[in-house]
Amino acid sequence: MTRLRPARWGVAGVLVASLLAGCSLSPDASLPVPGGNDVSTPAPIDDGPDASSGLDARLLSGVDRASRSDEERNIFAGWYTVAAEPEFGLGQERALQETIDAYVGDLSPEAFAGVAPPELNTTSTLTGSSDRMLGVRQTSYTFMGASGGSAYRTVWYDRENRRTLSTRDLFDSDDDWEDFRSLSAEQLAANDEVFPEEATEPAAALLDSVNFDSAGNALVEFDDYSVAPGSAGAVVARIASDDLLPLLSPGGLAVRAAGMDPAPVTSARKATDDDDGASSRRAAAPQASGSPARRSAPDCRKAKCIALTFDDGPGPSTPRLLSMLAEHDARATFFVVGPHARRYPDVLRQAADAGHEIGNHTWSHRSLTTLAPDRARKELAQTDDAVSAATGSAPTLTRPPYGATNAAVNRLVHTPVVLWDVDTLDWKHRNADTVARAALREAHPGAIVLMHDIYPTSVAAIPRILDGLEAQGYRFVTVSELLASSKPKAQITYSHGPAGK
Ligand code: NI
Repeated sequence: MTRLRPARWGVAGVLVASLLAGCSLSPDASLPVPGGNDVSTPAPIDDGPDASSGLDARLLSGVDRASRSDEERNIFAGWYTVAAEPEFGLGQERALQETIDAYVGDLSPEAFAGVAPPELNTTSTLTGSSDRMLGVRQTSYTFMGASGGSAYRTVWYDRENRRTLSTRDLFDSDDDWEDFRSLSAEQLAANDEVFPEEATEPAAALLDSVNFDSAGNALVEFDDYSVAPGSAGAVVARIASDDLLPLLSPGGLAVRAAGMDPAPVTSARKATDDDDGASSRRAAAPQASGSPARRSAPDCRKAKCIALTFDDGPGPSTPRLLSMLAEHDARATFFVVGPHARRYPDVLRQAADAGHEIGNHTWSHRSLTTLAPDRARKELAQTDDAVSAATGSAPTLTRPPYGATNAAVNRLVHTPVVLWDVDTLDWKHRNADTVARAALREAHPGAIVLMHDIYPTSVAAIPRILDGLEAQGYRFVTVSELLASSKPKAQITYSHGPAGK
């Protein structure tokens, strides 16, 4: 028999493949947002875009969003950073790397041969914030061949001591830690669906996602399939506050406070003179050149046109990119993901005001071909809303993550579907020289060039790309300008424009 091998669900070294029963696609489950939710065993529900927004977004001002893509192995991961507190982001990145390593380790050479390729998608949710602590839950959805499931891991960051905490760090003595494990086991035992052996003694590594509700109870979140069959969805053990309090370390008490009563973290970057402040100032400044009205689009059947496209942003490097484009009066197209559009509305508005085109790259960067139609529709609709809120207009194009689409996905899209025919592989190289060389080598009239403005190395390559192509007579146009002569239609896929003269 073919053994289905899901990733080690976010827990290094713990293989739960043996617990996987059946091969049906489990519904995505959503965990409660701590701080405002006292439900201990949530019913499995669609964990759509709402789940990834987490705590009130206003708590996030001063915190940047980071993400990374692996377009070959279908990996997308988002996390948070604070410029003045590098360990906050690094702690999340280390946890992500373990999840990625486990996924990659389980990929077989023929994994991508099937109709539904594998995928790893990690979204991050802020679950606690205070002057002392920040908490981020990573929800890692792994799809492996025939079956998918989510793993949960919460990374707590101690801002005072500048270190990332493990669940063990939340408890005082070894005895207190053992008591916590026993309390977790008791809660699991009360759930009929939990495997008996896990109810006796849950492996310590399974206790890697602990959050707190508004009453101060601990919510211990278990990965799909780890302690119960997939039909049980996300299992959450609630440890009553009274039982918990005597066991917590000083750090654990601070974590609990940050989770049960989250406070804004806007001061996080105040102390630093960082690029975010500079970019806000740039965003507020009037555009020196390149206002859309000053330029008429070339006829790309006659002119030598090229469309530079930037995915997965906007991000902290995007304002710099916009300045570079403005210097060359170049237009580009930005395929944005919803959470970044919501986090950087000023940058997005600045891009739109400068005449760049904004496309929809979904909310959570999941491969749309494996999602139920309703969920895929929601991925697109919520990003439409985030872009509209920022710029006043809905996206005019759609690029499905990984370029993964089919007739069923295209039917859900209200705009032309845009892929590419030049891939700089910038996500892989992370080297400005290599990216610039790749773009210049493969450029051709009518090309749609794929890059990512979330990588500073990609943005650093842009001046050379603009100089080099301009010297060859290229005009830098948006995708809709490139395709204008073919009157692009909704639900049709395009990956290049006319070759010009
Ligand atoms: Ni992407």
